[in-house]
Parts: sequence; C-alpha cells; structure tokens
Amino acid sequence: MIGAGPSGCGVLMAFKNLPEEEFKNYKIDAFECQAEFGGMWNYTWKTGVDAKGNAVHGSMYQGLWTNVPKEIIELPGYSFEEHYGKQMQSYLPRHVVTDYLQGRYAKADINSMVKFSTRVMDVQYDESSEIFTVTAKNVLTDESSVGEYDYVFVCTSHFTQPKLPEFEGFDTFEGRVLHSHDFRNASDFKNQDVLVIGGNLSAEDIASQIVKYGAKSATISYRSAAMEGGFPENITWVPLLQKIDKENVAHFKDGSSKKVDAVIICTGYEHHFPFLPEQYTIESGNRYITNNLYKGIFHEKCPKLMFLGMMNLFLAFVIFEIQAHYCRDVIRGKLEDPKTVSVEDRMKDIASQKKLEDDLRKAGDVKGLAYLQADYITDLQKQSDYSQLSMHERMDMFMRVIEIKTANRMTFRDSKFVSQVTGKEALDVKKPWLENFDATVNMA
Ligand SMILES: Cc1cc2nc3c(=O)[nH]c(=O)nc-3n(C[C@H](O)[C@H](O)[C@H](O)COP(=O)(O)OP(=O)(O)OC[C@H]3O[C@@H](n4cnc5c(N)ncnc54)[C@H](O)[C@@H]3O)c2cc1C
Ligand SMILES: NC(=O)c1ccc[n+]([C@@H]2O[C@H](COP(=O)([O-])OP(=O)(O)OC[C@H]3O[C@@H](n4cnc5c(N)ncnc54)[C@H](OP(=O)(O)O)[C@@H]3O)[C@@H](O)[C@H]2O)c1
Repeated sequence: MIGAGPSGCGVLMAFKNLPEEEFKNYKIDAFECQAEFGGMWNYTWKTGVDAKGNAVHGSMYQGLWTNVPKEIIELPGYSFEEHYGKQMQSYLPRHVVTDYLQGRYAKADINSMVKFSTRVMDVQYDESSEIFTVTAKNVLTDESSVGEYDYVFVCTSHFTQPKLPEFEGFDTFEGRVLHSHDFRNASDFKNQDVLVIGGNLSAEDIASQIVKYGAKSATISYRSAAMEGGFPENITWVPLLQKIDKENVAHFKDGSSKKVDAVIICTGYEHHFPFLPEQYTIESGNRYITNNLYKGIFHEKCPKLMFLGMMNLFLAFVIFEIQAHYCRDVIRGKLEDPKTVSVEDRMKDIASQKKLEDDLRKAGDVKGLAYLQADYITDLQKQSDYSQLSMHERMDMFMRVIEIKTANRMTFRDSKFVSQVTGKEALDVKKPWLENFDATVNMA
C-alpha cells in the first residue's frame, strides 16, 4: 500500500476490521514518505523539492478552511464529537481536520502497519507470475528495500503534480507567477490586483482567501465557464487570458484587460505516478469517472493494481473508505474479481460511465454529476460490510452546501449542518469566517 493519507489509511483500517484470525493471513506493507499520518492535510511551508530532491507533496495553504462542512467529511464510526469530546461548528480550519484524522488512525491502531519516511521508488509487474516487485527507500537513511506482493494499492492522490500552462508574456511579467500547489500565504498579496487563472475550486477559494487577507481585487480567468453567484464586487470573472503585455496589463479573450501585480495559476493537477511503468499509469483529467480505472479503482490492464481516491470529489474521506472495503472483499474472494471480466469489457464499462459524465457536463448538470458519484459509491457500499449510512442523503446535504455558497461565497462558512453520524446540529460560529484570522473554532 503506497501513501498513508486518508485513502491509504482506509485500506489499512479495512483489513484491521477483519476478525483477528483472518487478519493474520495477510502480510501488508504500507509505505508513507512523510513522517506521520495525514497526507495532504499535513501542512508544509515548503514548496519545490525537499532536501533529497523529491517534489513536495503538499498543496494546502496556511489559512485554508474546509470548503465543505465537517458533516460532509465525517466518517461513520468516528464522529468529530467523539474525537474532540465536544460539539463544534461546521466549517473548520485545516489543522482541526488533520487532528481528527490522526485521532481516527490512533483509535484504529494502524500505526505499526506503516513504514513512515519511506518512499516507493519503483513498482514492476510480472504478467506471468502476477507478482509485483516494489522498491522503496528510507528517506532518512537512503536505505533501499525490495518486496514482492500479490496486490498493490496506489493511494498517493492526484492533487500534487501541477498542471502548468504557459501564456504569452509570462517571461516578461514583472510580478510573481505561481501555481496554486505553491500558494502558502494569502497575506503575500495584500494591496495587490491579482490574476487567478482556472475555473474551479482552487481558483474560487484562493480568490476568496486573498481578498479576505487584503488583496485589492482578484480577476478570475476561466477557460470553459465562469462560476456564478455570491462573489463580492472585487472578485470578477473574465474569459481566458490571451497575453500579458510589457506594462503588466493582462488581455482577455473578450477584449477586456486589467493591469495586475501577480498571477496565481489554479489549473489543477495531473495524475502522476513516477514509480509505475508507463502502461500502468492513468491518463485522465480530474474527472468523476476516471479514465483507465474499472469501477473507479482497478487498472483496466492490470486489476491487481488498485487506485483509491483518484476521481474528482464531491464526498472525500468516506468514498476512500468504501472503496477500500470493496477492494479488501475482492481480495478475500467475497466479491466479483475484476480479472474475470475481459479487458475489453472493463474498457467498455469505463467508456459507458464516462459518457454519462460527459453528457451531464455538456448539459451543465452539477446535480446530475453529484448523484452520479452518490450512485457509484452506494453501489460499492451496498456490496460491502461498511456502514450503510446513506450517501444519497449526504449528497443532498452537499446540494444544500452549494445553494448556500452560491448565495454568498464570503459567508457560506458561517452556516451549520446536522451530522449524519450523531444526529446533532453543529454550533453557530463564534467569529464569521471573513473576520476570523486566528482560526477560532466554536467548541463547547
Ligand atoms: C488545496 C486542497 C484543499 C483540499 N481541501 C479539501 C477539503 O476541504 N475537503 C475535502 O474533503 N477534501 C479536500 N481536498 C482533497 C484532499 O486531497 C483529500 O481530502 C484527501 O487528502 C485525499 O486523500 P488521499 O489519501 O487520496 O491523498 P493524500 O492526502 O494526498 O495522501 C497521499 C499520501 O501519499 C504519500 N505519498 C506520495 N507519493 C508517495 C510515494 N512514492 N511513496 C510513499 N508515499 C507517498 C504522501 O506523502 C501522502 O501522505 C483538498 C485538496 C487540496 C489540494
Ligand atoms: N478550501 C478547500 O477546501 C480547497 C481549496 C482549494 C482546492 N481544494 C480542492 O483541490 C482540488 C483541486 O481543485 P483545483 O481547482 O485545483 O483543480 P480542478 O478541479 O481540476 O480544476 C482545474 C481548473 O483549471 C482549469 N484549467 C485547466 N487547464 C487549463 C488551462 N490550460 N487554461 C485555463 N484553465 C485551465 C479547468 O478548466 P476546464 O473546466 O476548462 O477544464 C478547471 O476549471 C479539489 O478537490 C478541491 O476541492 C479545496
């Protein structure tokens, strides 16, 4: 198992949940290049490469708050109330989520299953023996180890390798140009007019952040469609950037222009697995139905190679745990082995699911996309012994989140929701998000 973030830990917990007698039949090696659990939720100030020349994994920034209420990410079997022993508000700063996740894994007692500070460098697959050979390296000692495995779980996420388009004039632009992967501190942009390129959640959130922290304006330049509703006057949407001239004026597709002080590129990420042979990687954008993955998990050409959490996400953590339980039961022989489905049929199945997504996208049907994900995860959930908490109800909550957000992007984090896990309503916020610079959380 490669990567002990929320997806990888889902795998470890799924196996740990087996009866002791059965659990001991499995030898699981889990590799995590960081020194602790948390994955993306471990904030780092670092950007670029680390001391060993490896790309920094983290894309989170200092002032990040969740863009969904805790009730959307709360895991069945471990409520935020259980972790903190208190009631709290719905939207949370990132460190409160990191602590919750670490508590979840401490309770599940999976620490001893993970080789921390160990990076997987290479995975090879022998088609005749159906055995994977995995080479890993301790990042502290540089010591390498090689192991052989029947199955490999890839849980290294797809929000870490920046997609970096080039625009005319970047080379002569006098201000800062950075990708959202390297964005750390919104205060850097105080009193500046900032151009944000991209049309999705990073663009929306980073524009809101910098304006909250004193940027004069954020101009969001989109390729496909502008987000509508609820933006303050100093966050505006314009069509795609054409060039930035030598006077630092950005020119857009509709003929409009704006002098800018900095550019933040929020064009998303690539699936990137430098340790995998090319034929076993994924070529896909950030889709709800990921290319190359049968049932969103099993590599179409090699179903013993499983990928968790590789799709665009409405509901994050719970999806990973359901996928993990499903995979575990395939390995246990309790569910259909994707190997019994021909490669052609696996590919056909992926293509037909992708078509559903493409049709919904063309129609601009966000609700349809959301319930496509709810249907997907419910199908896996029903076949597993994971909690049967309704994912459709959770998606209903997500739809309410969107409604509140599109009414006002700067106040939506002050709203509250009812936990599916505890049945209790969250507390009111103590400080509105827009005035909350010290990550105050109402807990009682
Ligand atoms: C800026 C940002 C904000 C987000 N905010 C939210 C939010 O508010 N709510 C939400 O639900 N989701 C959010 N997400 C989505 C987030 O990615 C998921 O919540 C979650 O962290 C994904 O879990 P994961 O385990 O799949 O990946 P990650 O959390 O990224 O974990 C992957 C792990 O793999 C390890 N790894 C990578 N390569 C190797 C290797 N070769 N060998 C060993 N270990 C390796 C990494 O160190 C890391 O620990 C956000 C994502 C980003 C980028
Ligand atoms: N506070 C938070 O919780 C928070 C904050 C930030 C990010 N996140 C998470 O981070 C993840 C990634 O989000 P993301 O917005 O970075 O990536 P994303 O969802 O993949 O969106 C990328 C955007 O960039 C656009 N784009 C891609 N290539 C482009 C190009 N060459 N020129 C112009 N535009 C281009 C895409 O436009 P098209 O539509 O045209 O393809 C899309 O709008 C999400 O899961 C999100 O929830 C969370």
